[in-house]
Amino acid sequence: MRGVLFNGKVEISDNIEVRDPRPNEVTVRIRAAGLCHSDLSVVNGTIPFPPPVVLGHEAAGVVEAIGDQVTTLEPGDHVVFSTLSNCGLCAACESGHPTMCSKSIGKLSKPFTVNGEKAFSFANVSAFVERTVVLERQAVKIPDDVPLESAALVGCAVMTGVGAVLNRAKVSYGESVAVFGMGGIGLNVIQASVLAGATKVIAIDMLPAKEAVARQFGATEFIDASQGEVVDQIKALSSGGVDYAFECVGHPAVIRQSIDALGKGGNAVILGVPKADAEASFLVSGMYMDKGILGCRYGSARPRHDIPMVIDLYKAGRLKLDELITRTYELDQFEQALQDLEAGELARGVVTL
Ligand SMILES: NC(=O)c1ccc[n+]([C@@H]2O[C@H](COP(=O)([O-])OP(=O)(O)OC[C@H]3O[C@@H](n4cnc5c(N)ncnc54)[C@H](O)[C@@H]3O)[C@@H](O)[C@H]2O)c1
Ligand SMILES: [Zn+2]
Ligand SMILES: [Zn+2]
Repeated sequence: MRGVLFNGKVEISDNIEVRDPRPNEVTVRIRAAGLCHSDLSVVNGTIPFPPPVVLGHEAAGVVEAIGDQVTTLEPGDHVVFSTLSNCGLCAACESGHPTMCSKSIGKLSKPFTVNGEKAFSFANVSAFVERTVVLERQAVKIPDDVPLESAALVGCAVMTGVGAVLNRAKVSYGESVAVFGMGGIGLNVIQASVLAGATKVIAIDMLPAKEAVARQFGATEFIDASQGEVVDQIKALSSGGVDYAFECVGHPAVIRQSIDALGKGGNAVILGVPKADAEASFLVSGMYMDKGILGCRYGSARPRHDIPMVIDLYKAGRLKLDELITRTYELDQFEQALQDLEAGELARGVVTL
């Protein structure tokens, strides 16, 4: 079958095979897959990942085959993927923190074969490929009437952004937020902040062209970071600093800005992923007034609760999914999609299969 392989360089291969599902796994025919900056980060070396690897991790599709212990899914079911291969049995899982399950962290598997050589899955999913095999718990059933192109984005961008606001920061009525980076992650932080009742929602991007989409998702202000003075502008717009600043870029200088932009009692939430050895600094005295810096993995998600919730909110018209899709691509146009993402032209690009 066809798929996108990274083997030191990006390659569209016709020779990818995936093994049959184990008793607790399902095979899914992928129909749509979103391109996340984390895929680009594997290609440009920001995220070191052993090759060969089948790229992609944000997708939706149709269950094709099930292992003989699978009880919650049947062939034909429409599903969104969770990237968490958590165990469901440990203290972290039982206390509602599956992103902290040790089985969901750094686990590598090789369900694919390419020209006779074993290939890794990326983020426990692999999505730019016709079929993949995942744990039953990673395939979350959705209603058949949700377009799969839109549903695909729930698997990473929406779960990460919405989860960061609702699960990690716990933004509340009347609070102020600043969001750095208007890609798929940042736009979902914006719309979830509005949903949570934030009244001041400041979007920041280097590209002035992102203002329109930021406002479409609910930003009340937009700052063009290419003009400098970002922190001063945020402070001026928010009576001296925001309650929450979300870094959705992955750059130490922007992490610093997100901390400097906090008001009293404010929290910075770091979502962007810079190089593994990147360091960021902050002014210690600046933290004095009960400020905090929070890391956040995958929106601190509880996928089997949060993914259906996001779909319900979408169906009720309270979260946007369709509007996140700037462009769709065929698998053969994958290099173009990477270039468009790198150029900052996309909210999300979606590959249809
Ligand atoms: N924490 C997690 O679990 C998680 C999950 C998914 C993605 N990520 C990471 O989140 C980050 C964002 O991902 P994405 O897919 O939304 O990326 P994206 O490339 O779609 O968007 C990034 C945006 O940041 C803007 N930008 C660049 N430099 C900037 C600056 N100095 N100030 C303000 N804006 C700037 C770009 O113009 C672009 O609009 C990446 O680092 C990605 O790896 C983290
Ligand atoms: Zn992602
Ligand atoms: Zn666990």
